[in-house]
Amino acid sequence: MTATEINATDLILGIETSCDETAAAIVEDGHVVRSNVVHSQIELHKRWRGVVPEVASRSHTERILPIVDQALTDAALTPDDLTAIAVTQRPGMVGCLLVGLAAAKALSFRFAKPIVGVDHVQAHVHTGFLADPDMPLPALALVASGGHTAIYLVRARGDTERLGTTRDDAAGEALDKGANLLGLTYPGGPAIENAAKGGNPRAFDLPRTLLGRDSLDFSFSGLKTALLYTLKPQGDRAPMPTPTGDTLRDLACAYQEATVDVLVTKLRRAAERHPVKALCIGGGVARNQRLRERLQDDRVLGTLRLVLPPMEFCADNGAMIASLGSHLYRTGQIAPLELDAVATAQAGGKIDARRRRR
Ligand code: KG4
Ligand code: ZN
Repeated sequence: MTATEINATDLILGIETSCDETAAAIVEDGHVVRSNVVHSQIELHKRWRGVVPEVASRSHTERILPIVDQALTDAALTPDDLTAIAVTQRPGMVGCLLVGLAAAKALSFRFAKPIVGVDHVQAHVHTGFLADPDMPLPALALVASGGHTAIYLVRARGDTERLGTTRDDAAGEALDKGANLLGLTYPGGPAIENAAKGGNPRAFDLPRTLLGRDSLDFSFSGLKTALLYTLKPQGDRAPMPTPTGDTLRDLACAYQEATVDVLVTKLRRAAERHPVKALCIGGGVARNQRLRERLQDDRVLGTLRLVLPPMEFCADNGAMIASLGSHLYRTGQIAPLELDAVATAQAGGKIDARRRRR
């Protein structure tokens, strides 16, 4: 099959199990979402304040088939109606990825449907095309989640270049760790956003690590350490205090503002250097309202077409996997049944799913 042979409508089942969401969705032509079913394991991992790989993969195993079934029922389709099955192949916890891959391969074999392996981070990068199929190009894409924080230049579907990435913690990880220090619940991003409401972002002076004038990379580990020393000065032997009331509100607000400030500053730098027409955001942190406001108000970024996808497409979901899967299918990037799980992400560049092996 070649790219030019595949022009007809496609119905792609997208399966996602790379972290703590078990998800399946059916997307038509890369952007019409016929169903989108997500089961979050947050309650399961809350007591550990982070995702436990073995617990996550066991839960995926229990849920994946009912969730695929639900996605088909919601879309009023049967497996025979599908054009292809797209599945997250990388990056992620290998035990978790294997559950999705096993389900996709079983369906592929049983119903004689082609299978497409999808890079999860690239699926976040491509969320703009799911939310706005006419997104003008070139565009910038920010992926900010618990595991990744990076800026990409998107030249076309399947043709992206990573301009900068985090050198230590991801933005979501910084929010999760900051929330932990503040005595807030997991996941930290929404907890901090909630606690920050009505707070004063300048009440506490927290650092913005920008790594030199030209860098598009990120570093968030210093922010977390600064919060720690604000709560409990270095050398202080007293137990760690848990802030409450106005102090908690202002600390959460200042911490959120510092995180958002760095994301916006780096995106502005990228937009000043690359003549782009649009900016799209993806990953769990893209749900943050303060980030969305700051992008809209920014003197440079606010002039671009801002693609701020609906909340359900920012956090992990099967629709983004199906959407990028549609492009990969249309360009003939069908994977063999030996398609294997890979823990690490692709660096960008032109995607060629056929060559993706360990
Ligand atoms: O993309 P995602 O659901 O999972 C991966 O990490 O791949 O992102 C989860 C991250 C967590 O760190 C969580 O704290 C953060 O996204 N997050 C938020 C918000 N909702 C989720 N961060 C800021 N504001 C939010 N509203
Ligand atoms: Zn993700």
